[in-house]
Amino acid sequence: MAIERTLSIIKPDAVAKNVIGQIYSRFESSGLKIIAARMIHLSQSDAEQFYAVHRERPFFNDLVKFMTSGPVMVQVLEGEEAIKKNRDLMGATDPRKAETGTIRADFADSIDANAVHGSDALETAIVEIACFFPTLNIYSR
Ligand code: PPS
Repeated sequence: MAIERTLSIIKPDAVAKNVIGQIYSRFESSGLKIIAARMIHLSQSDAEQFYAVHRERPFFNDLVKFMTSGPVMVQVLEGEEAIKKNRDLMGATDPRKAETGTIRADFADSIDANAVHGSDALETAIVEIACFFPTLNIYSR
């Protein structure tokens, strides 16, 4: 199986709930390795740029407002099929539809405040990782 890298964001709601460690534990228990990490408070333009692909969607302004409402924890995860594995751990976008035991089922309050983000494809992961981490800041064996 392919070793992949994916970008994960622990969103402001989950940071405020003080569950970064519990979420990291789930990454590590599933075999994903945290190979870069930083906590930042996104500016409006950071968030608009990161979510530019959703610019035309009705929830865009709310999403930007939420993602800039407090600090986020951003990390690069590495492992076998990391992109799918992380999205399986996250659960469905809407926590009411997320499977029991997923991060969103356990920690998210609503479709707006849904605890985590994860890249959805290889190409997206490359672009998203580059938004936050220069190659030199990513641990590599
Ligand atoms: S996804 O995760 O891309 O497959 O899901 P998608 O439905 O395309 O949603 C894209 C991102 O927008 C967020 N989202 C919303 N934010 C606010 N309000 C509403 N109604 C809403 N619906 C979707 C969703 O959490 C995705 O953000 P990320 O950060 O990628 O999870």
